[in-house]
Amino acid sequence: MFAKEIYIARRARLLSDMVAAGEKGIVLFLGNAEAPAQYKDNCYKWRQDSSWLYFFGLDEPLYGAVLDLESGEQTLFADDVEIGDIIWMGPQPTVLSRAESVGIRRAVPYGELDTVVAKALRAGRPVHFLPPSRYYNTLKLAALTGGAKPSEALVRAVIAQRLVKEDCEIAAIDAACDLGYEMHTVARDAIRTGIVEQEIVGKMEGLTLSKGWGVSFPTILTQHGETLHNHLHDKIIEPGKLMVIDAGAESNEHYASDFTRTYPTGGRYTPRQRDIYQIVCDCNNFAFSQIRPGVAYRDVHLSTVRLMLERLKDLDLVRGDVDAMVAEGIGGLFMPHGLGHNMGLDVHDMEDLGENLVGYDPDQKRASQLGLGSLRMARKLVPGHVITDEPGIYFIPALMQKFKDEGLDKGFVHFAKLETYSDFGGIRLEDDVLVTADGARRLGRQRLPIEPDEVEAAMTRL
Ligand code: GLY
Ligand code: MN
Repeated sequence: MFAKEIYIARRARLLSDMVAAGEKGIVLFLGNAEAPAQYKDNCYKWRQDSSWLYFFGLDEPLYGAVLDLESGEQTLFADDVEIGDIIWMGPQPTVLSRAESVGIRRAVPYGELDTVVAKALRAGRPVHFLPPSRYYNTLKLAALTGGAKPSEALVRAVIAQRLVKEDCEIAAIDAACDLGYEMHTVARDAIRTGIVEQEIVGKMEGLTLSKGWGVSFPTILTQHGETLHNHLHDKIIEPGKLMVIDAGAESNEHYASDFTRTYPTGGRYTPRQRDIYQIVCDCNNFAFSQIRPGVAYRDVHLSTVRLMLERLKDLDLVRGDVDAMVAEGIGGLFMPHGLGHNMGLDVHDMEDLGENLVGYDPDQKRASQLGLGSLRMARKLVPGHVITDEPGIYFIPALMQKFKDEGLDKGFVHFAKLETYSDFGGIRLEDDVLVTADGARRLGRQRLPIEPDEVEAAMTRL
């Protein structure tokens, strides 16, 4: 947790932004409840709601809060433990002492949320709440509000605040990236032909658990990188393959990191792998060089795709005018995802609040084209944005076939050559980046080896 002044200031800003926008009524926040995996006493690993963590910091289940936009009153709702709980959980701080630790002076039992929300609704006062990310809160909010819709005014105010990271958050993300660096180093050092992928996953996730909360999303570690989010780890590592490792750490403060590297399983890239790898590596570096305040990340995505297609043209995989290819969405055949996303308390920060509201400025419309349509962060960059830079090139046989069958390539794709890459797999290279006052900085103390010579040197013991 941060110092209580941080939480006091965040709530004060939220209240004043909502009031300045002409909003009235109450703002209702719900922390998460435990989620049973099988029966009620055997739950999934506890993870608090991120917006709750941001404004209230308290990492306990079944907390709620109401902020009154007119009186400014702030009330926490939670239950003190009783002897029946103490037997299983040990003694716990009182709810009031927890409330005071984040600058709230009033605490009442959780059940009183029903009365307070019902009273506001009876008086015709708006009840603002965020879209819930968990089913328990979906049901709870439906019961409390009679099925009212989440408040777009609140969503916009929360996004505006959380998108621009404070210094204490940047330090926390740097720490999560340092942990992510260690995790990836453990994984890279564990790559050996003949072992099962799962062994590496166990080692890297063990490291994260030994120093932080765990992983920031389910680890992707696969020799089938052409499947973008391949969560199977059951293959024996074979020589001559590419292994995509896309994994991140979540720190004990609950900030995320998210890195991707692609390794040659035998320690050396084949010439064909190196050609494609170098393009992705150059795209990653190029995208980073474009990141600065005032530039829309959508434009960085498009200029990076342009570079990728230019280089694929050099390999005779595509033919024709590169600008026309970009306009026709040919990039989506090779990179069907966007260049990056926001990152913070969530690895895809705040996507529970709505991908478009988070990633797009009001004057930007999300495209439907493959690739560009998957771009989750298009906004004009400002200092304090934390984003990922993750270009990739994938040879997805089913997608290649679809482009061919349906003429989606518009004559730009050299299929006879492309089809020789059907067993290639995929390559993705991802760094985490802070937008600074005059440019950008990669997060974490050290950058994971990325140039192909650096990667091979790091793997020389194989
Ligand atoms: N690293 C996983 C993702 O960005 O979706
Ligand atoms: Mn990512």
